[in-house]
Amino acid sequence: MDKIRIRGGRPLSGDIVIGGAKNAGLPLMAAGLLTDERLVLTNVPLLADIHTMAQLIAQHGVAVEPVTNDGRALSIGGAITNTEAPYDIVRKMRASVLVLGPLVARVGEARVSLPGGCAIGTRPIDLHLKGLQQMGAVIQLDGGYVNATAPQGLKGATIVLAMPSVGATENLLMAASLADGRTVIANAAQEPEITDLCDCLVAMGARIDGIGTDKLTIDGVRSLHGATHSIIPDRIETGTYACAAAITGGSVRLRGGRLDHLGAVVKVLHEAGVDVSEDGGDLIVRRLNGLHGADAMTAPFPGFPTDMQAQLMALMSVAEGAAMITETIFENRFMHVPELNRLGARINVHGASAIVRGVPQLSGAPVMATDLRASVSLVLAGLAAKGETVVNRVYHLDRGYEAVEQKLAACGADIERLPG
Ligand code: EPZ
Repeated sequence: MDKIRIRGGRPLSGDIVIGGAKNAGLPLMAAGLLTDERLVLTNVPLLADIHTMAQLIAQHGVAVEPVTNDGRALSIGGAITNTEAPYDIVRKMRASVLVLGPLVARVGEARVSLPGGCAIGTRPIDLHLKGLQQMGAVIQLDGGYVNATAPQGLKGATIVLAMPSVGATENLLMAASLADGRTVIANAAQEPEITDLCDCLVAMGARIDGIGTDKLTIDGVRSLHGATHSIIPDRIETGTYACAAAITGGSVRLRGGRLDHLGAVVKVLHEAGVDVSEDGGDLIVRRLNGLHGADAMTAPFPGFPTDMQAQLMALMSVAEGAAMITETIFENRFMHVPELNRLGARINVHGASAIVRGVPQLSGAPVMATDLRASVSLVLAGLAAKGETVVNRVYHLDRGYEAVEQKLAACGADIERLPG
């Protein structure tokens, strides 16, 4: 298994191109199941999870083909010949469950493996299933699979989500776009990835009101058509590299990074002494002087994203003073804490909060993590640490960060991949 070796202590300086958002790309690919015609997605990031979703869609019988040689434009389209999403794919990637809504809406049936637990929390899919039931789907759980049927098609319904789940909003939005009549999704998630999905569905002929708000109203149509859609830039990749610049005391230009998607992160970075400004479609991130402790609590968008919590914690571990970081979305998303502490950080967890007492210097060590954002937080810590840090289990990083070591090395980091 590949590893990443970092020799810390070099301030980053240079440009980093931000790729298309993984968490927008995955539901958008599932939206390709809603039509026979071709959905062309551009600005596709080259990531393991995107590859897994392509495999899943292909095994439903629908062609997923590169439109350009670099693989950054994909066409999805064709008849669905198989409605099963098997355990072997779903266990690798939970976002596989996003095929459930589109399959039931388009062909009236789906058999999708239950994803099971995950390193960051139990992550049930009850809200996805309840919403589909309200739209008339019959759901049975059998042998670890969800069997969903709606032979007469789905019907519009008013669905109030108990919490603004990103995945449930996406699944129900896609299902509702082909349902008979009007669906209202109240307490919907408002993440930029949802807006991106809505924009693509509208380009495919869907009728959606309230885009960008917590109340989506969808008037179902008989069929959707092909479209071409460019995936939004990845706000979490942007925020991660902003933290990389900050933790090394450097300055970077994040090409394509969007301030309007990162408000809560930028607010905390400003408090910590990091300047983030817009410049001609890019973001420029610079650490001004010293870093100061700044508190953050994760929340659904527009709150501070849980997917940036580990990276902020790495940054706060070298700030002057203390920071309290509270995780409200997932119950077990502090797996990076013992690993950061191995690098010399002083972090204590009390329930859903972590107290980070900044130290003047981290020191390199071998580390490993159990999920994507935890892994990248260790890379950030390694960039600031004295000596050598080796991050194991790099496959987590490859799921969500394209060419992380190349992007950082191009800005002066001493970082390389060691083939395993
Ligand atoms: C999405 O996961 C993202 N994944 C996650 O990205 C992200 O951390 C998360 O949203 C929150 O922003 C993708 O977009 C592919 P949720 P999702 O449903 O949709 C509970 C990353 O690192 N819940 O909004 O699975 C759930 O347990 C990742 O890129 C239910 O109780 O998240 C959690 O506590 C990991 N029942 C909360 O809601 C349900 O039916 C929010 O989960 C659904 C969710």
